[in-house]
Amino acid sequence: MGDARKQVPVRDVDRTQIFTPPDLADFMVHQLNLSAAGEVDLLEPGAGAGALAESVIAASPRPPRLTLVERDLTLGSHLSDLVEHHRSDIAEDSEALTDDFFALAPAWIADGRRFTHIITNPPFARVEPQSHVAAVLRKANVRATNYFAAFLWLASDLLADGGTMVAVVPRSILSGARYAATRAHMLEGAALVALHHFTDRRAVFERDSVQQEVVVLTLSRGAAPSHIRYSQSATVINIPDAIQLPHRRIQLDAADGHAVLVPTIVRGEVDPSDATSSLLPDGVQASVGNVVDFRAGADVVVRGDGEIPLVGSEIFFTRTPDLRALRLNDRTQRHVFPPGRYVVIRRISPSEARPRIQAKLVVAEGDEFSKGVAFENHLLVLHANGKGMTPETCSVLLERLSDARTERQFCERGGTTQVNVGDIRALRYEGSSEE
Ligand SMILES: C[S@@+](CC[C@H](N)C(=O)[O-])C[C@H]1O[C@@H](n2cnc3c(N)ncnc32)[C@H](O)[C@@H]1O
Repeated sequence: MGDARKQVPVRDVDRTQIFTPPDLADFMVHQLNLSAAGEVDLLEPGAGAGALAESVIAASPRPPRLTLVERDLTLGSHLSDLVEHHRSDIAEDSEALTDDFFALAPAWIADGRRFTHIITNPPFARVEPQSHVAAVLRKANVRATNYFAAFLWLASDLLADGGTMVAVVPRSILSGARYAATRAHMLEGAALVALHHFTDRRAVFERDSVQQEVVVLTLSRGAAPSHIRYSQSATVINIPDAIQLPHRRIQLDAADGHAVLVPTIVRGEVDPSDATSSLLPDGVQASVGNVVDFRAGADVVVRGDGEIPLVGSEIFFTRTPDLRALRLNDRTQRHVFPPGRYVVIRRISPSEARPRIQAKLVVAEGDEFSKGVAFENHLLVLHANGKGMTPETCSVLLERLSDARTERQFCERGGTTQVNVGDIRALRYEGSSEE
């Protein structure tokens, strides 16, 4: 620890220094259930100005042992004062370390240092691939593209058996490819025991003008529980009691990328869906449209100048779509689908948009499509092994994709502003709406 301490303390005030609102701090500390705990040996990485630490001290029935880590010199010295100030309320060997968590954690992990409790409001900031931080993380075998994900990765390794960790992080950790490695690593040994979702992305860090949809994760190092405590609120004030949901209603398994669902609670309940069969009928695949405008360059021309009609997201605009075309040549041949019927889905899908899933039928038949059809990459294309589908299959798909239950499933999972192939593959068929 001694050497690492000299490494990267920083003096600048940076954009990762967002202070945890006191109500959120109290809520997070409540998740630690300190009154039921025996010994409390607590780590707070990225402790900032100490809002969480203050809350921990106030909520602990016995003096906790605190290890506060903060890389900023000014905040670090403030934390040292905080520790001194509370000397009589905390264990004697509590300490505030002005240091880089990314340097300390790998050494602690190697030495077998573990904590019974970890609480963190980590920085939300991208790790630039060429940066010093990226190199430090690579060396420690941490695969994370954002600071918060790296904090989760390392913190979960520092959790003692039976220990509890609570973190407030962007919702995007819960699904999708970007944080899949972090999710898998974190959930390998630790199980999700509680999840809180803040529905309003302006509400939590409003004072700092941060707009970010966030969740509070509570993990425990041990076997997965049969039920997960789940709650939802717009703001940090008056957070309702959690409801208990069966584990698999929230936490999907490794085959589903360890995705964590965020169901909407309506009148104290969530839709009990546990459908398991795919929404896509057998033989139907989803792919991203493969014509990328700027790469296709001169091969994309106005309709009439090229042999292959090119379908883009303008198909979703209300005015008559003005389709473009692709010139047919050796470069473009591989982008061409044979004539037939396809269903396309708009990829851009802001989280406020309703419906999030917009699908349309493309009838690429007749003279105009005699040489085939192409799709640009702002669309997902549903097809049968690279070919068109029967009218019946297309109707089934359109009906299922526009079903309110499909929309609900997508919203539970889709934390990003895009519809990805994986999201469509993950949709489940919940039966005909007439049933
Ligand atoms: C969101 S703030 C924490 C807020 C804190 N709970 C509070 O209320 O003040 C994240 C903190 O992590 C610190 N930080 C960022 N990178 C760090 C690193 N590698 N090691 C230690 N601290 C770091 C930042 O300086 C910042 O104070």
